[in-house]
Amino acid sequence: MPERDTPLHRHMFARFQRERAWWRRLGRAWGAFRREWAAAGVYGMRWGDPETVPPLVWVRDHFLLPYVHPERVAVEIGPGGGRWTSYLLPFRRLYLVDYVPEVLAEARRRFRRSTHVVFILNHGDDFPGIPAASVDFVFSFGTFVHLELPIIAAYLANLATILAPQGQAVLQYADQTKIMAQNNPGFAATTPEQMRHAVTAAGFEVLEEDLTTLWHSSVIRFRPAHAGEGRPAQGDTRRP
Ligand SMILES: C[S@@+](CC[C@H](N)C(=O)[O-])C[C@H]1O[C@@H](n2cnc3c(N)ncnc32)[C@H](O)[C@@H]1O
Repeated sequence: MPERDTPLHRHMFARFQRERAWWRRLGRAWGAFRREWAAAGVYGMRWGDPETVPPLVWVRDHFLLPYVHPERVAVEIGPGGGRWTSYLLPFRRLYLVDYVPEVLAEARRRFRRSTHVVFILNHGDDFPGIPAASVDFVFSFGTFVHLELPIIAAYLANLATILAPQGQAVLQYADQTKIMAQNNPGFAATTPEQMRHAVTAAGFEVLEEDLTTLWHSSVIRFRPAHAGEGRPAQGDTRRP
């Protein structure tokens, strides 16, 4: 714990003084311009770049990258312009499932050279064409925040059929216990308690919940309930 006479504040102020030099500000402005220029071409990047926005960097490093594997199969639900998809590309096969044809067309345009990516237009809660028990990892960000519980429950039931016995899913959803979700009229009325209940009712075991990193939503990671018998979860380096 810092003491009353800690040098922390003098150091912070000295750093600010160094960083307000005009050439440093110009350098940062140029970096920001270049990032903005690159990101402007990707639908969804204006909601935050997982390369630079700290909570999204955390989600990427904690909930996505540890599960990427070149011999496994993944599904992304609602890829949009592919803000997260680019990190999922190393999977052996990647299914991009979206309900909105125009948006799926945008993902197809961006990833047209990736022959192992399969684009699927769905009915809003299903996985047409994906074989049963064939998927190792499911990821969705920015999509379930707009889906109400009955649709989520339908998705979870369908997910139970495509997920392999040792597979896992990571879903980000609207968290109405947070003020920034309550203030967003486009967000669903879901809470962590409801989500936990829906996930377990669909036959899954909750492995992890992150209720704090994101200011308007939360993240849940789960696997089929019977998968737990004695084995650590795939990609989970934190478990013994
Ligand atoms: C707000 S965008 C998020 C896109 C991307 N995941 C991101 O984080 O940048 C929502 C995405 O979900 C898709 N979508 C909306 N309802 C859906 C549903 N019921 N099932 C699958 N995708 C859906 C939209 O077309 C869009 O691609």
